[in-house]
Amino acid sequence: MTTETTTSLAAPGWRAVNLDVLKRIEALPSLSTVVNEFLELTRREFFTAKDFEAVISKDQALVARLLRVANSALFGNSRRIHSIPEAVVLVGLENLKKIVFSVSTEGLTRLRLRNYNYEPSRGYWMHSTAVGLAARALVEMLPQKMLHGEEAFVAGLLHDVGKLIVDDFLDPTAGKRPITLAEEAEAAGMNHAELAEFILQQWRLPETIVLAIRDHHGGDESAAMSDGAKILQLAQIITGTWSIGRGEPVDLSADFDPTPHADRFATLGLPLGKTPQLIWDIRQSLTGLEKLYPED
Ligand SMILES: [Fe+2]
Ligand SMILES: [Fe+2]
Repeated sequence: MTTETTTSLAAPGWRAVNLDVLKRIEALPSLSTVVNEFLELTRREFFTAKDFEAVISKDQALVARLLRVANSALFGNSRRIHSIPEAVVLVGLENLKKIVFSVSTEGLTRLRLRNYNYEPSRGYWMHSTAVGLAARALVEMLPQKMLHGEEAFVAGLLHDVGKLIVDDFLDPTAGKRPITLAEEAEAAGMNHAELAEFILQQWRLPETIVLAIRDHHGGDESAAMSDGAKILQLAQIITGTWSIGRGEPVDLSADFDPTPHADRFATLGLPLGKTPQLIWDIRQSLTGLEKLYPED
């Protein structure tokens, strides 16, 4: 059960968007419509692998990619997998959900950012995926289900989608660098979180996801910050410990100290005593992250 009661979205068209920005948004690869269908499915109290198959089979490109992933070295199966039911049995429902959401968002997450300080080829994908996996692990540890695990994962995958637009308005001669929200707003008229709100509303993603992403750089003091935004913020702080997406290979050896973030954990109902388990779970889900990257 979701407890998003703190704030809500503004009406569409709430802010004048610069025409050049609109053109760039229109040029973005579209988000597969199956994302919304899957989110809808995972919100049901009961659903089975068969329900997932029914949605997957509507999208032949997704079927092809799913079978490729199931046949990849990742699952170490010697026998060739030819059908969705076989793939489901092999990878399991939990992995299937991760694969489906990763694959159906990868047209966006595989794009490269020229001006932000990510590793050039797949740094943006690694950062987005890591925040998604960490947000999912975090939600699963929380005493109250504030967001579904899949919503948290999709929110993480798409949280920096606004950067794909801002990137086109930054000065490439300045080189790759950390870029502030103010600098983004000056370049594109809105920062990447505000742009994401606009984009994700157009794509009709659930309000919980849009709010989480809109506020993922909001301050601590904001009483109006949604639970999803708090989850995304913590997922970013935790994955930031390992600088994922800034360079390769991923090194998860640095210790995460939760004490400076005790208030953030407390507002989500997670005592500091539970953070070692959480960090263990997140490390588990991020181990071998590079191997999940889709090959051409
Ligand atoms: Fe981010
Ligand atoms: Fe961000």
